[in-house]
Amino acid sequence: METDKKMQTQVELTDSDLSEQIKAVTKDSHVRAENTELMLAYQRGNVSLTQYKLLLCSLYEIYQALEEALDNNSNHPSVAPIYFPLELARLESVERDLEHFYGQDWREKIVVPAATKIYAHRLRQIGKDNPEYLVAHAYTRYLGDLSGGQVLGRITQKSLGLKGGEGLSFFSFPGVSSPNLFKQLYRSRMNSIELEEEERKGMLEEAVRAFELNIQVFDDLQKMVSVTERESELMHTTTRNRCTRHTS
Ligand code: HEM
Repeated sequence: METDKKMQTQVELTDSDLSEQIKAVTKDSHVRAENTELMLAYQRGNVSLTQYKLLLCSLYEIYQALEEALDNNSNHPSVAPIYFPLELARLESVERDLEHFYGQDWREKIVVPAATKIYAHRLRQIGKDNPEYLVAHAYTRYLGDLSGGQVLGRITQKSLGLKGGEGLSFFSFPGVSSPNLFKQLYRSRMNSIELEEEERKGMLEEAVRAFELNIQVFDDLQKMVSVTERESELMHTTTRNRCTRHTS
């Protein structure tokens, strides 16, 4: 009986934790994100170079907007507890990867799907109008990168045969020695944030929106992949036909 009471208290406490609420409210969205064409390619273990390069382009836009908004609001009472630039910041690592694949003039070469621009716009907007919602976005990206993202790194390396970590900086967190322990710390920091009921509700809605924005990015990106791969297939066929004509 006593144990039952304790368990009940524990469940009640857990239920009111932001980290648990955000995980629960985004559960279905997580499944949907896992089932996008791009993430399915990852789970099948065969991501293509085109897919990975386009993903990096989108991640560049997203982290540029997210980290600028976090930096600008680092003293905001909701943002300060989850502000970990040394451990988590991804922008420079994405830049290194882009340089690896596109060369020094990568900035002129990168391609950004419309959905990525919409996502980045939302991040800039809440950075100005509702900085507390940044918690929902930082959670969605960084905890994702420290969870399934670690597997995605290994798959990228294997699929593309990348050696010595080249082009894979995005997946590596040198400032985080144990992703699991860090995630625990991150969750407890999230739970320490004081929120009015309305703010909490808004933040949970924003987390669902953050997943939705990611899903849109993956879908848009995949459409670009199909076009790019069809074009290169066409070029191959044309070249093959020309060669055949020459030799016959
Ligand atoms: C957590 C797998 C895609 C966001 C996790 C966890 C796994 C996982 C195994 C750990 C669950 C736990 O510790 O309880 C995957 C796989 C994916 C994928 C296999 C695709 C192939 C994504 C995407 C996002 C995302 C696209 C968001 C953009 C998250 C977040 C968490 C998480 C925020 C932390 C949940 C929490 O502990 O509150 N994922 N994931 N994941 N994932 Fe994913």
